[in-house]
Amino acid sequence: MARQYSRRKRILVTGGAGFLGSHLCDRLIADGHEVLCVDNFFTGDKRNITHLFQHERFELLRHDITFPLFVEVDEIYNLACPASPIHYQHDPVQTTKTSVHGAINMLGLAKRLKAKILQASTSEVYGDPSVHPQTEDYWGHVNPIGPRSCYDEGKRCAETLFFDYRRQLGLQIKVARIFNTYGPRMHLADGRVVSNFIVQALKGEPITLYGDGKQTRSFCYADDLVDGLVRMMDSDNEVTGPINLGNPREYSMAELAERVIAGTGSKSALTYAPLPQDDPRQRQPDISRARELLGWRPTIELEEGLKRTIDYFKTMV
Ligand SMILES: NC(=O)c1ccc[n+]([C@@H]2O[C@H](COP(=O)([O-])OP(=O)(O)OC[C@H]3O[C@@H](n4cnc5c(N)ncnc54)[C@H](O)[C@@H]3O)[C@@H](O)[C@H]2O)c1
Repeated sequence: MARQYSRRKRILVTGGAGFLGSHLCDRLIADGHEVLCVDNFFTGDKRNITHLFQHERFELLRHDITFPLFVEVDEIYNLACPASPIHYQHDPVQTTKTSVHGAINMLGLAKRLKAKILQASTSEVYGDPSVHPQTEDYWGHVNPIGPRSCYDEGKRCAETLFFDYRRQLGLQIKVARIFNTYGPRMHLADGRVVSNFIVQALKGEPITLYGDGKQTRSFCYADDLVDGLVRMMDSDNEVTGPINLGNPREYSMAELAERVIAGTGSKSALTYAPLPQDDPRQRQPDISRARELLGWRPTIELEEGLKRTIDYFKTMV
């Protein structure tokens, strides 16, 4: 049910035409706010937000956040950044610019407006972790010069900028570290495991498992994640994060493949391929901080989330 606010807010969502950004726009509109969606459409898609075009409280602006932006808003959710390796490695310099110059531009805007600002950071700041599950005080194990560094180090530098703007200028900041999230409007060809498996199953192609398929991942459904972001933005000023947002429940890749096959009714067979280099055996958030400070935990089970995601992909494949 939509929540009631004593005051309607004007909210900027950068990356609002992307997978998570578009769900966030939906949620904020449903909550009664005015939403300004800013996107350069690098990985975003107008179809993710067409249903909002006629809404009187929704506005879309094509803009690249590596350039300064002058608008008037009360809150800023900074989600703009390609999130999958295929996309962020396409133009690594632009990826770093989006994270770093983009953060500087959005923090500058927040400073001028005295607006609250939330950064969509990532579990990738932990790199190839030596601590399981990952807690927020783990500093990470990140390669600064590899092909993933544009994203990992870009996001780490953005976090640094957020905390320096807080320390130096007293900005109200929030840093959310997002773990693997899935749902409708994921990019069809972004190489992520959930979308890969669903597309392969719907096309009746073999589903590829790497290694023995026993490596585990955790998956958070988009609506749960968006709820975490909104709770974080609404939290007290002292709650700056970083806070992990993700689903701690782990599934093996073989189990996920079976569930996708069952959910799609596909006749796809499983095939096995060698484990890629640097493929972590396990990635799992410790969400104690989110539970304690935000009263947040994921509520949508994988079965239900997969069903909704498969229904969406059926319309796209
Ligand atoms: N989906 C996940 O599992 C996940 C996990 C960790 C972190 N995140 C973070 O959440 C945010 C959203 O991720 P997503 O999965 O929705 O990815 P996405 O690629 O679907 O969305 C990113 C959006 O940002 C836009 N964008 C990219 N560069 C831009 C720029 N310079 N200026 C303006 N817009 C720009 C893209 O066009 C796209 O609409 C990202 O910051 C990502 O790093 C996502």
